[in-house]
Amino acid sequence: MTQKILVLPGDGIGKEIVAEAVKVIDVLTADFGLEVALEYGEIGGAGYDKSGHPYPEDTKKKAATADAILLGAVGGYEYEELPRELRPERGLLAIRADLDLFSNLRPAILNETLADASSLRPEVVAGLDIMIVRELTGGIYFGQPRAIESNESDERFAYNTMVYKESEIERIAHSAFKIAMQRGKRLCSVDKANVLEVSELWREVVIRVSAEYPEVELSHMYVDNAAMQLVKEPKQFDVVVTGNLFGDILSDAAAMLTGSIGMLPSASLNASGMGMYEPIHGSAPDIAGQNVANPLATIMSVSMMLRYSLDNAVLADKIDAAVEKVLDQGYRTADIFVEGMKKVGTDEMGDAVVAELKA
Ligand code: IPM
Ligand code: MG
Repeated sequence: MTQKILVLPGDGIGKEIVAEAVKVIDVLTADFGLEVALEYGEIGGAGYDKSGHPYPEDTKKKAATADAILLGAVGGYEYEELPRELRPERGLLAIRADLDLFSNLRPAILNETLADASSLRPEVVAGLDIMIVRELTGGIYFGQPRAIESNESDERFAYNTMVYKESEIERIAHSAFKIAMQRGKRLCSVDKANVLEVSELWREVVIRVSAEYPEVELSHMYVDNAAMQLVKEPKQFDVVVTGNLFGDILSDAAAMLTGSIGMLPSASLNASGMGMYEPIHGSAPDIAGQNVANPLATIMSVSMMLRYSLDNAVLADKIDAAVEKVLDQGYRTADIFVEGMKKVGTDEMGDAVVAELKA
């Protein structure tokens, strides 16, 4: 049966990198029997430009019937002055909430040939393979009440609410334990239980859920220590599970261990396995339209899509192998370039992966 992929290029470099990922999907369709139909929509600034909203009704409708979504990136300088609820980021938060994409998988894997691109010593990062499981539809990102207000003496104050229900913690814990079972069977839950009540409950619930996964070795770490350990000895981690805000911060740090944030895909899944797939990096408006952005994170997001939503691990492996090959052959976009390698643009990198798939 033909499955439907909704493609949301978004803003900035989003359009260029998604175009390369679509080339890869097209080859899989033409030569390897993948049965998918692509549909396009707008999100972020592109949604605002077309329909006055970062998550337009039309996109919402298309998303409701999609089997998977491929997203580029959102955000741009021209939208920074818009009221908060119309900014591009709101589109991203809205689609996550609308589709209940609570489980955000952010792998940080270092390709052996890129160990020199990391700002850490090669021996600290070589062979790195971490999976960060970030809760994506709760916590302080969505908690109510939230506002900027003024008090009697006309001083402004602002507040947000970090809140988790037991059921929200339970489902993300199950997600993380299941992934740990498929990997190294070690799970580190990151919180701030020495200060926050919400973390106290988080820890209690994670421990409770752990009873159902006796084979997984569970540990706990405060978020400040986790940030330190990530840059000190990153290979100690297998799977990390954490809340929305901590996960946002730690996943950027973990991404940078690999040398380039341009190399990392992500998946955001709901309970039925429907998912949205996107590179971890942003829209990089400073380099948009210059054909220098790295499309590999988006191409590998297609691989994650095949693996987690379209039930096609064979083609997922095929993409991963092709990317590996292309890197082995020395192809490098500017972000991962080192002397002696072949510097290529966005489209040449996409073409190289396509050629490898066809080889
Ligand atoms: C991410 C991004 C988003 C987030 C922004 C763009 C809203 O930083 O996906 O990590 O904070 O979740
Ligand atoms: Mg982030």
